[in-house]
Amino acid sequence: MCGIVGYVGSEPLISYLLSGLSKLEYRGYDSAGVAVHTGDSIKIFKAQGKLDNLKNILRDKCEAGVKTLSGDAQGAAMQGFNSFKTSEEKAKIGIGHIRWATHGIPNEINAHPHVSPESKVALVHNGIIENYKEIKEELIAKGFEFKSQTDTEVIAHLVEDCLRNTNNFGQALRCALKKLDGAYALGVIFMDDPDTLYAAKKSAPLIIGLSDKGNYIASDIPAILEYTKKVIYLDDFEIAEIKENSVKIFDIEGNKIDKKYEIVPWEPVSVNKMGYKHFMLKEIHEQPDVIRQTLFNRLICSSEPIKLDEVKLTAENLKNLDRIQIIACGTSLHAALIGKYLIEEFIGIPVEVEASSEYIYKRVISNSNSLTIGVSQSGETADTITAIKLAKEKGSHVLVVTNRPDSTMARLADSLLPINAGFEVSVAATKSYTAQVLAFYLLALKLAEVNGSLPSEKLEEYKKQLLQLPQKVEMILNNKKEIHACAIKFHNAKNFIFVARGINYPVALEGALKLKEISYINATGYPAGELKHGPIAMLDETMPVVSILTPGKVYEKVLSNSEESKAREARMIAITSVNDSKLDSIFEYIIKIPQTDELFSPILTTIPLQLLAYYIAEFLGKDVDQPRNLAKSVTVE
Ligand code: G6P
Repeated sequence: MCGIVGYVGSEPLISYLLSGLSKLEYRGYDSAGVAVHTGDSIKIFKAQGKLDNLKNILRDKCEAGVKTLSGDAQGAAMQGFNSFKTSEEKAKIGIGHIRWATHGIPNEINAHPHVSPESKVALVHNGIIENYKEIKEELIAKGFEFKSQTDTEVIAHLVEDCLRNTNNFGQALRCALKKLDGAYALGVIFMDDPDTLYAAKKSAPLIIGLSDKGNYIASDIPAILEYTKKVIYLDDFEIAEIKENSVKIFDIEGNKIDKKYEIVPWEPVSVNKMGYKHFMLKEIHEQPDVIRQTLFNRLICSSEPIKLDEVKLTAENLKNLDRIQIIACGTSLHAALIGKYLIEEFIGIPVEVEASSEYIYKRVISNSNSLTIGVSQSGETADTITAIKLAKEKGSHVLVVTNRPDSTMARLADSLLPINAGFEVSVAATKSYTAQVLAFYLLALKLAEVNGSLPSEKLEEYKKQLLQLPQKVEMILNNKKEIHACAIKFHNAKNFIFVARGINYPVALEGALKLKEISYINATGYPAGELKHGPIAMLDETMPVVSILTPGKVYEKVLSNSEESKAREARMIAITSVNDSKLDSIFEYIIKIPQTDELFSPILTTIPLQLLAYYIAEFLGKDVDQPRNLAKSVTVE
């Protein structure tokens, strides 16, 4: 996490740094800062907390701007920055950072940019330097003093130390980088090299944007899209020396590398709440269209085969498959658990699902007869990237399911299955989860088609179920008042338990995750049958239990488990499509979803839980779109 930007050119520098950072706020919001080279000195501006705090500091500095600004209007503020009437006006080169704290608390001292003791070097960093303590001790022994608790400050000091032995700035940077273990995307400026922006990357994303009006660096494409679509993807151990009219790239030994730029096929992202109070609520409401978009051109009608040309697995490959592993984190992990259920049910191949952070620290049992599926909204989650690389090293075919076909994971994939959910702003994932689950339906049904593992009537019936999903989701959204009322009734609870069985068990996990991440209420998801093995001890009249009951194999079992909870005086809430009078005596609140086959229920059962979490968090006055301590893209292991 953390996001970095940089620019060299004659366009308004502060404007770009701030607008670039605003597009990266999903990566962290613990602090923000910029450094600009004015020709005479490097000036640093930092603020704890969200980017708006930094904007306010810069606005106060802006003499002309202050007079013209009214209220907090961001557009006016940006105009103010454009007419920055101080020495910063001359600045043509600068770097910026948005932080998600790893080392050191989120305060101004730990905020980036970090500067070397003699102010010869200023830099911004995304990643973690694992051997920073050892380097720090060595530098302290040499007389260097440190101000912050960050791992990043050691890089600035190390580069300055290397500068003692060379006048070549690129060489000094390379000398420092060779001593670093861990991950970094860096933007670096030197006091004595006022025309060059340096950038370097290892295991954290970094792109260079090229334009006629100067050149940019950024952690992610949206930060530069307003200015250019010409992009160079920096690879690990590459170092760029970027001037207004040129970009040179070197390897860690200083050998020049020729790299081609690519044109990004995107339009600038319009980040707009469209009248909704929060992005999360808007994104929940986009789900019927996201489903249509993900099905578009892939499932046209139930009697035709699914088109999934992106998946390069033939019937022959499938026959030889001895294992499927799915790796993911967070909400994507819950989508993966539903994927496991579907693949096992439709084609009968055993599937293992593992959190990427666990997968990478044990013996990787993959080979050329295994398929590894990486699932990630962002395509940049560090643990999942490492896991995919390990699986590839073992010869496994890697299929990536992601919302970002331009991401690191997408570029590592042997097969790429993009999910078309559109840009997701809210840190809590909603529409990307739904699109991931849908991608697993398409994949599992496609594999069943290729493998011949389902009778054609079943296949046709299942495809019909998928085609009906958008309307059913719309029905749930039209009924949100009921969910709002439930949220108001239960918002005071200190704990929640979510239970389900079978294919809806991952939904219970996701319901609990959504609630805790945005409302900070302690919530846990359990297989309903496991309640009696411990969690039942928690139940009393203060504990809400949300039971997911859809008609099918496990309905009666979940109903019995709900009765057991009711007998312990828990406050019972049902998410169900069943009209069953037995429910009335057990449940205090019943949230209805449209009739559906159990196998096709997880998207429909999740949406009320997204809304329940949203309304509770909103009612409690929480920062729904940017919950504390979280970031949307987790680029550190
Ligand atoms: C973070 C986000 C979650 C997300 C997880 C995995 O923790 O806050 O919403 O599910 O990362 O991210 P990915 O981009 O790999 O799906």
